[in-house]
Amino acid sequence: MDQVKLYWKNATADAVGAEHGVSAQELDDIAPRIAELHEQFNVERKAGNKRYRDLPYDDEMLKAVGREVKHFGRKCEILVVLGIGGSALGNIALHNALNSYTHNLSPKHKRPQLFVLDNVDPDQIRSVVEYITPRIRNTVINIISKSGETAETAAQFILFRDLLKKKLGKKYAASILATTDAKGGTLREICKDEGYRTLEVPDGVGGRFSVLSAVGLFSAAMTGIKIDKLLAGAAHMDTLLQSPDVRKNPAALIAAIHYILDRRGKNMAVMMPYSSSLYYLGDWFRQLWAESLGKKDGLNKTDVFAGQTPIKALGTTDQHSQVQLYREGPNDKVITFLEVQNFSRKLSIPKSMKHVETLKYLAGSDFQTLMNAEKLGTEYALLESQRPTLSVIFPKISPTTVGQFIYLYECAVSYMGGLYDINTYDQPAVQLGKDATYALMGKPGFDDLKTKINAAVAKRDETFLI
Ligand code: PA5
Repeated sequence: MDQVKLYWKNATADAVGAEHGVSAQELDDIAPRIAELHEQFNVERKAGNKRYRDLPYDDEMLKAVGREVKHFGRKCEILVVLGIGGSALGNIALHNALNSYTHNLSPKHKRPQLFVLDNVDPDQIRSVVEYITPRIRNTVINIISKSGETAETAAQFILFRDLLKKKLGKKYAASILATTDAKGGTLREICKDEGYRTLEVPDGVGGRFSVLSAVGLFSAAMTGIKIDKLLAGAAHMDTLLQSPDVRKNPAALIAAIHYILDRRGKNMAVMMPYSSSLYYLGDWFRQLWAESLGKKDGLNKTDVFAGQTPIKALGTTDQHSQVQLYREGPNDKVITFLEVQNFSRKLSIPKSMKHVETLKYLAGSDFQTLMNAEKLGTEYALLESQRPTLSVIFPKISPTTVGQFIYLYECAVSYMGGLYDINTYDQPAVQLGKDATYALMGKPGFDDLKTKINAAVAKRDETFLI
């Protein structure tokens, strides 16, 4: 099986100096805590409390997804996913990583086009509504929401349900697949009342850890991604994470490096794929790192204000944008490159300009060589500026390697949260914004909050500068 590799030498003190890199002593110091966390995670997993770790082995879930793909696949030409956060970012990342850039223009093997709506932008939604209306008989709507109460997804759902009802009459429910909590919640109730087909958001798996469940797998399989291989890749990574030794367990090592360097002021984590296909894994990573680690209170202390700010960048594009800052700005980042050794397609650079002295070097080379030279060049330039970097190297982009990467980072964030001694799996701070939206939109029970918000923004008109 193809396997991703982790190159970490350029994050060490030997490579970037004692002030900016991780020393052997620091790894020795953190090793006992990592071993402790490793043991704790094993105990939790055995007790069924780390369910995301077992998704790669969930044959029932795989069968259920397969059943729905078979059911909806026959006539589906357009698949619209409605969801947000953990109920959308994984779908987008898988689609971009593993389907072709022009998939929606010319889907292969009668696979559906895919639109994942993860916002409430009326212009965006309207354009999808206008596109699907004449094709409504061959459109499937997959609403993904554990609770069914998330305002963004609920608003989209009401709109698309109405459209289906108007165009298809009584049969509208046959075009909806709801992925939601197995037992309770608003959406589960609606499913029962209206008779939708359903898939489950597994119990005990938070949104940002759910891409390898029915949440991410249905749209992936519908568009032709081999989800069994994705899960096999994740399971393979699981076998590589069995050691309690920080130097032998890649997820623990990624966490240890980020944690040690964060404590020394490197409170930003950049994910920079040298591949346009992998760029959206950067969005997925941002949510995983930000929502899991950004916590005010720890498990045993208050006001810890933990977390690193995750940033996504794209090689080579951001060499002409961000890299100036990364080399000469504050040395406050840990940068992770994603490198692809073998792109799916070969593409040569024609020799037609070899008579131009300044362009001759490109003649007869190819785009993969250029991409990887740029990656190595940037890695070297950052090393020269004593900036710590890691590289995750994909032998090629495939369901197997993408599955490995996803599982690796899900586990890395668990170790990282353990080192911070925080709850990695909750997101208490997003609630106030949600409640404020409910208040402003008139949801019953939020009147007091509405009064407070109105008082806080009452003088806004007087304070505009322009
Ligand atoms: O990671 C998370 O838990 C969140 O991003 C949720 O996925 C997001 O808020 C959507 O929630 P729900 O699936 O209940 O609509």
